[in-house]
Amino acid sequence: MPIIEAKNLTYKYCTGTTYERKALDNITFKVETGDVIGIIGENGSGKSTLIKHLNGILQPTDGSIKIFGKDICDKRYRNELWEKVGIVFQFPEQQTFEDTVFNEIAYGLKNLQVSKEEIPVRVKSSLEKVGLEYESIISISPLSLSGGIRRRVAVASILAMEPEILILDECTAGLDLLGREKIIDIIKKIKKESKTTIIMVSHNISELIELCSHIAVLKDGKLISFGKTHQVLSEKNVQKMYFNMFPDYIQLMHKLSETFGNINAKSMYIEEIEMELHNLLKGFKDERN
Ligand SMILES: Nc1ncnc2c1ncn2[C@@H]1O[C@H](COP(=O)(O)OP(=O)(O)OP(=O)(O)O)[C@@H](O)[C@H]1O
Ligand SMILES: [Mg+2]
Repeated sequence: MPIIEAKNLTYKYCTGTTYERKALDNITFKVETGDVIGIIGENGSGKSTLIKHLNGILQPTDGSIKIFGKDICDKRYRNELWEKVGIVFQFPEQQTFEDTVFNEIAYGLKNLQVSKEEIPVRVKSSLEKVGLEYESIISISPLSLSGGIRRRVAVASILAMEPEILILDECTAGLDLLGREKIIDIIKKIKKESKTTIIMVSHNISELIELCSHIAVLKDGKLISFGKTHQVLSEKNVQKMYFNMFPDYIQLMHKLSETFGNINAKSMYIEEIEMELHNLLKGFKDERN
């Protein structure tokens, strides 16, 4: 059974008013346990609207979405949904309210009615997962931390809830290179050490190639492509839209392929590209000898 199943999902903001806006248009897709899904799309294409359906913050105007086989509109499963689906929203550091890092992370746990004894254990292990040391950080105000560390605290506060589906909305946007790398390492570790299903919205194609098993492409609220990462990124229309954002090494392979027809420009992964270049150069060397 798929862990997420959307059928003809449509969502309109401000229905019935002059501001009515169709943000999702007839979307159908399935996600299996352990998949890592990357969502790409221009600003306003519906990415955040889609993920807000995954824990029931928004409910479809038309169509349906099932998580763990249960309809998100069914009130009986509301608590289960909140427990099992964790969302790190866009710019989460703008939504920190508590006076200390400990209270910030404990907040969600209290809502889940985790026991008093268990809360510090969960806070500690989630801080460890994001590479922060419990003793030295728990009494600090989140507002006094740097952007990168605050983002990691925000991720920790969701990880503490031990979600089965982890959703990250542009979790590296606005961070410097080091901050970005830290977050990517955290996601890699979660992917390696657990069966957590991960859904991440990102504009960074290199990041998605590195992490995602599948990619979904949204345009004007429509799902214009969904499939395995290398398949989606080798589609002509997707390449046309996003080519400038592809890593330099992939762009280089395309240019080489235009000049030397016998080169495979479909490779997405650096090891494959290394091999391809090795063969090309070897061909030149053999020709010369
Ligand atoms: N609360 C709201 N009320 C009315 N319209 C909204 C609301 N939130 C989003 N929209 C509209 O719905 C459409 C999809 O917005 P959404 O935030 O899902 O896009 P996005 O792909 O996440 O964009 P971004 O890359 O800027 O985060 C946009 O046209 C947006 O203006
Ligand atoms: Mg968004």
